[in-house]
Amino acid sequence: MMRTSRRAFLKSSVLAVPVLSGGCRCFLAGEDCRREVRRPSAMSRVNLAVIGCGTQGFANMNVFLQDPRVQVTVVCDPVLSAGKYGYRSEMTCGRAPAKARVDGFYKNSGCRMAADFREVLADPSVDAVLIATPDHWHALQAIAAMKAGKHVYCQKPMSLGISEGKEMVRVARETGVTFQVGSQQRSASEFRVAAELVASGYLGECKACDIGLPGGNKGLYGHEKSMCRDLWLAPDYFTPEGMWDMWQGPAQHWDGNGFIQGIHEPMCWRFNSRTGGGMITDWGAHHLDILQWTLGMDDGGPVAIENMVHDRDPDDRIFDWAANYSFDVVYANGFRAHVSSKLPNGLKFHGEKGDLFVARRKLVRPDFLKKWNEKKDLKGRDVHLYRPRGGVSHEMDFIDAVYSGGRTACPCSVGHRSITIAQVANICERLGLSTLKWDPVAERFPDNEEANRMAVVRHHNGWSATGM
Ligand SMILES: NC(=O)c1ccc[n+]([C@@H]2O[C@H](COP(=O)([O-])OP(=O)(O)OC[C@H]3O[C@@H](n4cnc5c(N)ncnc54)[C@H](O)[C@@H]3O)[C@@H](O)[C@H]2O)c1
Repeated sequence: MMRTSRRAFLKSSVLAVPVLSGGCRCFLAGEDCRREVRRPSAMSRVNLAVIGCGTQGFANMNVFLQDPRVQVTVVCDPVLSAGKYGYRSEMTCGRAPAKARVDGFYKNSGCRMAADFREVLADPSVDAVLIATPDHWHALQAIAAMKAGKHVYCQKPMSLGISEGKEMVRVARETGVTFQVGSQQRSASEFRVAAELVASGYLGECKACDIGLPGGNKGLYGHEKSMCRDLWLAPDYFTPEGMWDMWQGPAQHWDGNGFIQGIHEPMCWRFNSRTGGGMITDWGAHHLDILQWTLGMDDGGPVAIENMVHDRDPDDRIFDWAANYSFDVVYANGFRAHVSSKLPNGLKFHGEKGDLFVARRKLVRPDFLKKWNEKKDLKGRDVHLYRPRGGVSHEMDFIDAVYSGGRTACPCSVGHRSITIAQVANICERLGLSTLKWDPVAERFPDNEEANRMAVVRHHNGWSATGM
């Protein structure tokens, strides 16, 4: 078995595709508009619109508000104001509370509100958008935003399915706008140090990793198991009329275009295949992204999912992803990552000299590396991974790149490769297979046409990625 140094990986890999270079002169691809990508001058602020004022929208917006280079000018959500929201029903979401937060921060009343994101994208004063909507919206909104010349910070998982991610990468290349996927572990030093130690060979030969992702679906965070069940009328905070349709967007409507109680709440929509990919994509977007980074596989990916085991209930049409699962992610050179909802949340790399565990704000190294210090011990020949220029946050890294035209910590093409692994695993699960081969060069399943059909996301209700 070969050593898993980054260099060895790159050398052994037949998967490399041309790498995107940032900062080139690019043009918008709209039929009737060919404008140069607009970047604010160093003297002006980045006018940012927030699309999706829910749990994570507020979290990201609060970080952007702290950046003096940013002016949050518009907040957009089909929900005006809904209380008892968030993972533990602890917050109020919607465009009205978001405006109140922004105006309170700037001590004025200048923040505008929109219920329809297309108004935001048509506004020439908007430089950049934060997309923090449920997963079924990301691709369509990001593609429309890029085509409108906006720089995009798009929450993870950046797409609902593989076809969407491919199209996003194509449009990102074509338009040349700045794109940051919200897989913010790339900007956290504990993950970077872990990845650099493993990739530089400090653990010796390393051919395996255990990855713990959360399990569960219904009842998570104390949500009532009875939620997300009954067909109701949409609540009146979807204002003005038609905004429940705007929430559903390209997702398939429920029976009679009704409203399943609670389905729009973050602890429900994630677990339904119309709007999310369950925990495999929700957290795979984080830890599988770190796996890819460590292995130097940002332009490639694994060749198979093996040993898939799960407890998906085929009769549950609301929580229709597995609550518990395990599978192996297998690379061409034999590296194997075992993913399980029963393992501690994080990544444990197994090296011949010892194990290294990394999770959020936690890095457990083998004894012989305890005193290792990245500032003085990372040698010139070691693997040096991307550091956010400001060194502060993923959001600030995005703003840096909006000004400079340089790369971000997690560009569109990189986020696409990472989330593809989770999406391949979900297709394997859905097909009831133990093993499913994947060709990361062709980006297709080499021997399963049914899986290739499932890789194509169907958009409903007249929405499409090409005509918005
Ligand atoms: N990076 C992270 O660590 C992290 C953490 C949590 C969530 N997220 C991601 O953020 C996204 C949002 O998740 P959440 O937990 O905040 O969900 P949420 O349900 O709390 O928030 C989503 C918001 O988007 C709004 N919305 C729906 N359709 C819209 C539309 N057409 N236009 C504008 N707004 C619309 C909803 O009304 C809601 O307010 C998800 O993709 C999730 O995976 C990332």
